[in-house]
Amino acid sequence: MIPPAATWSTTTTAASRTEAASGPPVRYAQVQTFFNRHCVSCHPAVNPSLDLRPGRSYADIVGKPALEAPGMVRVVAGDPDASFLYLKVNGFPELGDIPAIGTRMPPMAPRLPESEIRILRDWIAQGAKNARGETVSASAVPVAGARPRFTGADPVQVEIGNGTIVGRVIDQRRRPIAGAIVTLLLKGSDLPDGEEHVRAAFTDAQGRYRMPDAPEGRLELKAYAPERIYVSRVIEVPEDGTARADFGLPDRPIANPTVSGARVAARPGGVRLSMRLDGFSLDRNYTVAVNVAQRRVYELRALTGPGGETRPGVWRRDLDGRFRGPWVFLAVDETCNVSRFLRTSSP
Ligand code: HEC
Repeated sequence: MIPPAATWSTTTTAASRTEAASGPPVRYAQVQTFFNRHCVSCHPAVNPSLDLRPGRSYADIVGKPALEAPGMVRVVAGDPDASFLYLKVNGFPELGDIPAIGTRMPPMAPRLPESEIRILRDWIAQGAKNARGETVSASAVPVAGARPRFTGADPVQVEIGNGTIVGRVIDQRRRPIAGAIVTLLLKGSDLPDGEEHVRAAFTDAQGRYRMPDAPEGRLELKAYAPERIYVSRVIEVPEDGTARADFGLPDRPIANPTVSGARVAARPGGVRLSMRLDGFSLDRNYTVAVNVAQRRVYELRALTGPGGETRPGVWRRDLDGRFRGPWVFLAVDETCNVSRFLRTSSP
């Protein structure tokens, strides 16, 4: 049973603020040193929506709306638990340390040591002051953030239910993205690599999508758009209820991976999906083909080298059964860059 409170909530407890404001005073120079050590290699070169370089970082975080999670603020002075930047590094405590929104930072690395994370937490709790000891917020933050709440439910194992998921997908300039794909993934030890894309919804001209018959409980979504950075989200859909998940997708400065030759060919009893992938750090799980009429997603199987590493080339997947209408193919790499979308039709 998932109570309705499991959807996006807009409250934060005052208790979490006072309790957090402990620890020795943290100067902004220490926070910048933390960014220099762990973050500036990618922000902004890999993800240009966030600039953590010296002289730029403060204005880009304190009181600045988050992009990936458009309902949240990057740093809410005085409230680490409502600060998206802190949650991206710390994880969401109710979910163990899963980030819940996108990848935990820094990506592809173990969680930073507690002593390092503490610098960020204490600095925010102490008012997120700049080098002159003042709090300068890019915007007034009337309600301190809107973050998802979780009940500790296990991930759902079914594709269909009585719930509905709705939301919007916007770009780095906060304009709607039409034709973006929001996918539903299932997790389970019996699935290849522990998770599998199963269903899809497409955004309309206003960037809105709707996924009816969604399973109730905790599940994972991902939003993809051509030549952008994708974002994932863990949400809880209440029983017979609606959950909302909005996504903001950063621009992609790195032109990787590239795709060509998407094809759906007839074979006895079914079809063979194939597409050529080029580039580096190809992600073995998120190269997918979406059947538009069925709103269904199929992962292509990765080509791998002797050490299990992914390789460029033609990735394939054989499916049994009959398929109609158009398909959309896409690939991603390990830093969440999305390729172009390729369209092709059923045989
Ligand atoms: C290897 C590259 C890389 C490093 C290093 C890195 N990031 Fe990121 N960051 C990304 C990418 C890619 C995204 C977008 C995809 C995602 O979040 O899943 C992102 C997204 C973010 C966002 C979301 C911004 C928004 O408003 O949408 C925050 C906050 C963030 N990173 C903070 C950090 C912090 C703090 C560090 C250092 C502790 C860090 N990142 C280190 C690549 C990186």
